[in-house]
Amino acid sequence: MDRSGPGRHAPQDSEPGAHAPQVDDIRTRALAEVAAAGDARTLDEIRVRFLGRRGDLTGLLKSVGKLPADERPAAGADINAAKRAVELAIDRRGAELSQEQLARALEEEALDVTLPGRRQGVGSLHPVTQTLRRIEEIFVGAGYEVVTGPEIEDDYHNFEALNLPANHPARAMWDTFYLEDGHVLRTHTSPVQVRVMERMGPPIRIICPGRVYRRDSDLTHTPMFHQVEGLVVDEGIGFTDLKGTVVGFVQRFYDRETEVRFRPSYFPFTEPSAEVDAQCVHCGGAGCRVCGYTGWLEVMGCGMVHPNVLSMSGIDPERYTGFAFGFGADRLAMLYYGVDDLRLLFENDQRFLQQFA
Ligand code: PHE
Repeated sequence: MDRSGPGRHAPQDSEPGAHAPQVDDIRTRALAEVAAAGDARTLDEIRVRFLGRRGDLTGLLKSVGKLPADERPAAGADINAAKRAVELAIDRRGAELSQEQLARALEEEALDVTLPGRRQGVGSLHPVTQTLRRIEEIFVGAGYEVVTGPEIEDDYHNFEALNLPANHPARAMWDTFYLEDGHVLRTHTSPVQVRVMERMGPPIRIICPGRVYRRDSDLTHTPMFHQVEGLVVDEGIGFTDLKGTVVGFVQRFYDRETEVRFRPSYFPFTEPSAEVDAQCVHCGGAGCRVCGYTGWLEVMGCGMVHPNVLSMSGIDPERYTGFAFGFGADRLAMLYYGVDDLRLLFENDQRFLQQFA
């Protein structure tokens, strides 16, 4: 107990009653602690320690009763004054601390409400999807039905039923992915023709869009690409129907008068067979890098359905004839949009794809 400090009430003995120096001492300690308090919890704790029911100042006040009667009022007033001073200091420091905290929060959690919001990117249809939809629209408008088939195909539908028996040398026309169980990833959409003919009789007027697979990769080939197959079977269908259909389609697709030429070709499932070239859409036939300076672009294979193919699928070739065609939709998209590397279509590079939004 420090009794050396100055006090208005000189101690009379060593027993309780030497209040003045004690009050000053406690007040000084309390005020110092309050000033040093860095947060509300510490302040609360100080409040309890000095002003609480068992607090230092409270204790002192209780002991006033033991003082001589004439000293009590002054001592009591002294202690109460100290209590108020500490209370006030605590309240002020508390207000100060919450101001500081608010200022810090404003600083740290600063939010500039005038900043523009983060935009949600809007996706768009892939150029190949857009192309496939345009193709479907053109054919649906001409009375065709859209049919799909499996991408994992059996040997029978991918080859055999298309007049390509086992070991037929023309099987080498397709770089096939074989599965271990003897199935293949279909190399073209032609097996869907077979599936349709097996299921329904003439008249048939369908297109089959879908993914096909070949072991191939360069500027104009990707291991997966999209084909659209067309098949029309009815009485009296001739090569002129094929020509008219193909020329009409190419012109609708490119949206302009486009020269189209037919070159004799070979496919085991059509006879006669042809390949179709369209005038280069880039140079208009003058010759450029895109068409290899020939002025022509190969766009599809086609022909009159081979009688073997019809009869294998249960259609009487004596009564019915038909034509079929198949083309690469990615290739058409590439030419339509002026893309010079087919692989770009499948790299999913946003900067590339956004251009077709
Ligand atoms: N299926 C052939 C191919 O992928 C294209 C074709 C289809 C040819 C229909 C003639 C008739 O090469």
